[in-house]
Amino acid sequence: MQIKNFKRESIIPLPVTFISTLSPDGVRNVAPYSCLMPILRPFDLICVATAGVMRDTFDNMKTKEEFVISLPGMDLAGSVMPTAKFVPPEVNEYELAGLDEKSSQKIETPGVDGCYAWMECKLHKIIADEYDNFPYALVMGKVVHLEVRDDIYNVEDGSWDVEKAQPLMMTESNQGMHFCTVKDMGWFEPYGAMFPNGKDPLAGMYED
Ligand SMILES: Cc1cc2nc3c(=O)[nH]c(=O)nc-3n(C[C@H](O)[C@H](O)[C@H](O)COP(=O)(O)O)c2cc1C
Repeated sequence: MQIKNFKRESIIPLPVTFISTLSPDGVRNVAPYSCLMPILRPFDLICVATAGVMRDTFDNMKTKEEFVISLPGMDLAGSVMPTAKFVPPEVNEYELAGLDEKSSQKIETPGVDGCYAWMECKLHKIIADEYDNFPYALVMGKVVHLEVRDDIYNVEDGSWDVEKAQPLMMTESNQGMHFCTVKDMGWFEPYGAMFPNGKDPLAGMYED
């Protein structure tokens, strides 16, 4: 079945994240963002694709130069759409969606309480452009503090229990978004298997 080229986003399961920001007046803003990816394994950079208009998150990222990306489990699915609705920048979206703040360690902007992991980011770079006359931006953040819930993380090998965390994900169809989660296949391959000598050149990074 050939489908329209723009639907490339529909057939990639995407994470549902909450990005929280502060306005210049200190108003708390939260919104769901799914077009998000880490930039390569050795780096501590994360990239978010955002529309360049009607996004308080984007305006706040630019002015405050910091933000928090919180990763919710399925239990927070009900708070996604209340934070996705267009509301004026002076509205506190935590209150709107019944979400609680989680104080941050390294930046002023709070995260979202009850998530299975969260990353405090400082603005690294913005690439702003237009495509077919529509403004958009790639916002890169440098992760300055990363935390995961103790009960899902295995300190021995750095793995985490996806069946327990139930990360909130989504796919898309013509009418909207279908929320889902991931399943562990129980199949493991070491990074070293990608290299001719069987050794991971970045292995040292994982040592304490
Ligand atoms: C699950 C989900 C994922 C979304 N992902 C993105 C995204 O990656 N980029 C984007 O520009 N908008 C995305 N949106 C739309 C924004 O969340 C929405 O426009 C929101 O009102 C923006 O809020 P803000 O003005 O407070 O930033 C998404 C919406 C939902 C429901």
